[in-house]
Amino acid sequence: MGALGYIDGRTVDPKELVIAMEDRGYQFGDGVYEYTKVYNGKCFSLNAHIDRLFRSLRELRIPAVFTYDEMAGIHERLISESGIDNGGIYLQITRGWAPRAHNFPESVVPCLTMTIRSGNFNAAQWETGVGALSVPDERWLRCDIKSLNLLGNVLGKQRAKEAGCFEALQIRDNKVTEGTSSNFFIVKDEVLWTYPTGNLILKGVTRTRVMEEILPVHGLSALEKAFTLDFALSADEAFLSGTTTEIMPVVTIDGKPVGDGKVGAITRKIQQSYKSLIVKECGLA
Ligand code: PDD
Repeated sequence: MGALGYIDGRTVDPKELVIAMEDRGYQFGDGVYEYTKVYNGKCFSLNAHIDRLFRSLRELRIPAVFTYDEMAGIHERLISESGIDNGGIYLQITRGWAPRAHNFPESVVPCLTMTIRSGNFNAAQWETGVGALSVPDERWLRCDIKSLNLLGNVLGKQRAKEAGCFEALQIRDNKVTEGTSSNFFIVKDEVLWTYPTGNLILKGVTRTRVMEEILPVHGLSALEKAFTLDFALSADEAFLSGTTTEIMPVVTIDGKPVGDGKVGAITRKIQQSYKSLIVKECGLA
């Protein structure tokens, strides 16, 4: 079965999803989203994604018109109706439809749409590692909200792709904040470093699981402290974390090797532990 969409309580062909022309998501990017991966017919880290969704809605003052259980239920429904066991579910909620005006409309009903698609991932990259390209962080100042406004991310990722790289590392005030759709870690002298949470990065669900559930098992911990690109280039290892990206080793930055230019031992351990979490939560992936 191909991709399947959801709108207004019904499942539809995504090509048929009908959105009002004046939906504020379409006109202003006025909405939020989440992306959850499906392994073996089960959503991984779904609770954390729904929690973050509700936080994003609160921050943008969009009413949460669905309960936690309803949100989880629609995820399950999409998996069972599509027959897709391995893939991802994209969800977005916009402030809704109203004649265009910048301020919030008086009465407006938020619009939830979702799609499920089967996975299309290149397994070899997790083995060999990937290259990253540094780009200026041109995003707004509320990167902690998973909002639909992703132009900075889109332009950065495209520059990376054109340079033959997997991801762009965004630089703000001389510090590496995060990837365009992933968080970024380095390992130096067996200490992990990553940009601190706050308004300038997304608090990744994967980042949190690495820090809270994986590192302690290996007697490791992460320093949440900003670092420069030069510091990252002097690191022993580097990796990206994210729902789609999982734990992706970064072996070059701007064409220069990180450490010895090979996937590091600590990165490998974290990758393996992440796989174990998936197996524990979703069964065999
Ligand atoms: N992106 N930072 C940014 C800017 C992101 O867009 C994402 C996720 C992450 C990692 O977050 P998580 O571990 O919760 O997936 C960090 C999703 C996958 C996307 O845009 O599709």
